[in-house]
Amino acid sequence: MVHTIVIFGASGDLTSRKLIPALFSLHRKKYLPAGTRIVGVARTDYSHDQWRASLEETTKQHAADFDAADWNSFAPQIFYHPGDIGSPKDFVSLRRFLKELEGETESTRLYYLSTSPTLYASAIEGLGAAHALPIDGDDRPLKGDLSRRIVIEKPFGTDLATAKQLNQQVHEVFDERQVYRIDHYLGKETVQNMLVLRFANSIFEPIWNRNYIDHVQITVAEEVKVGRRGGYYDKAGVLRDMFQNHLLQLLMITAMEAPVRFSADHVRDEKVKVLRAVRRAEQSDLETDTFRAQYDGYLQEEGVPGDSRTATFAALKLHVDNWRWNGVPFYLRSGKGLSCRTTQIVIQFRDPPHLLFTNRHDSPWDPNQLVIQIQPAEGIQLQFHTKVPDAGMKLQMANLDFQFAREFRGQLPDAYQRLLLDALNGDASLFARSDEVEQAWGIIDPITEYWSAKDSPQLRHYPVGEWGPTASIEWMGKDGRQWFDVCPVLH
Ligand code: BG6
Repeated sequence: MVHTIVIFGASGDLTSRKLIPALFSLHRKKYLPAGTRIVGVARTDYSHDQWRASLEETTKQHAADFDAADWNSFAPQIFYHPGDIGSPKDFVSLRRFLKELEGETESTRLYYLSTSPTLYASAIEGLGAAHALPIDGDDRPLKGDLSRRIVIEKPFGTDLATAKQLNQQVHEVFDERQVYRIDHYLGKETVQNMLVLRFANSIFEPIWNRNYIDHVQITVAEEVKVGRRGGYYDKAGVLRDMFQNHLLQLLMITAMEAPVRFSADHVRDEKVKVLRAVRRAEQSDLETDTFRAQYDGYLQEEGVPGDSRTATFAALKLHVDNWRWNGVPFYLRSGKGLSCRTTQIVIQFRDPPHLLFTNRHDSPWDPNQLVIQIQPAEGIQLQFHTKVPDAGMKLQMANLDFQFAREFRGQLPDAYQRLLLDALNGDASLFARSDEVEQAWGIIDPITEYWSAKDSPQLRHYPVGEWGPTASIEWMGKDGRQWFDVCPVLH
């Protein structure tokens, strides 16, 4: 089967930084199915060659494996068609162009919305209207045709109400099985490896529950600040930007039950069950279980109002009320302007039921921890006690490490490579389903509402280059626990 990928928002940053470099790398590795065509759509009046030339320059900067000869064999597959998402006639001319390009060859079509989210609804409506017209003998309905798919970038709505509305607009034109909602964290090799770790090994399952696990920490720490995205970020804040999607995805993958089969609906059914089990916070929980802060200097960022109370750092304590996890808190934390970039999941195990040894005088017992480092040093570390030789029964913590870079040669592929390939192959396992997105907003909305209320709790501040405010350490300390602040764990 031949494929056509139509990218709306062709002149945007995501297209040049991520999508085209990912497609180029797939082409280099010969993973991109032969004959795949890429059609860019935007308002700028480029010719095919002008767009190709501009992409060649940006791909040189952003693809880790740029090679001129491979680019020359890839470039002829790229086309450009000018069009305005607000103009119905441009969708008709796009359809004509695609028909001409594809000729009589049966081709799947992937419409990729890489535009500003404010244009998603018009783009979907435009596609629906243009497909409702029979063009050059093609009168097959769009809805339900699984060879016509739509890929939608995040953010999917800004709260539950807008996400529901967008889902409704999508479902007027596309069947859910045609929809691929992107969360690029699901395309990361190490996130997928979590599924393998949990469900391809039998040794973890017996201890992966409330009987052995004390709590779970999920941290996505970023060194970067908001940069040029102040205008967008100030409206979103860390909860909408990172928690509703990436952190909750990591929570689902950590907490889900084994699916019956590794197929899109089976995997997503289990993930959604986790979100359904997350306790909806009461007012009193919101006070104790949420924490927020802003980095010093945020108010001076371009596009940020001088009196903004937007959080750039947050920590949440979530409870998954089911048989496996009852009583095991999940601490989620993310922030910008921190001391180091790391994404890690820490499974902290309970202390042994009866302590025969002390590990250090007057210090708390060091717990066993399984650290899954998603990025940047991808790997897994297990921390356990060992006996120091020739020192009586003195104990010391030791590590067992697994590192992707040591075990496998070559760089890990960018998340978009896997996601684009899966969307082409019609596999939606690593994409968010409509109910998943809505459930996630259902968890986040009460917190954003609480934070924006007049009597909302204090917004703390923290200096750039640290692990967030020291008050976040005290917040965790109230539960008698400590953040795992090692970065990077593996190197
Ligand atoms: C994006 C957020 O979804 O994820 C950004 O909008 C954030 O603010 C980025 O920086 C983090 O992604 P990664 O892959 O660099 O961890």
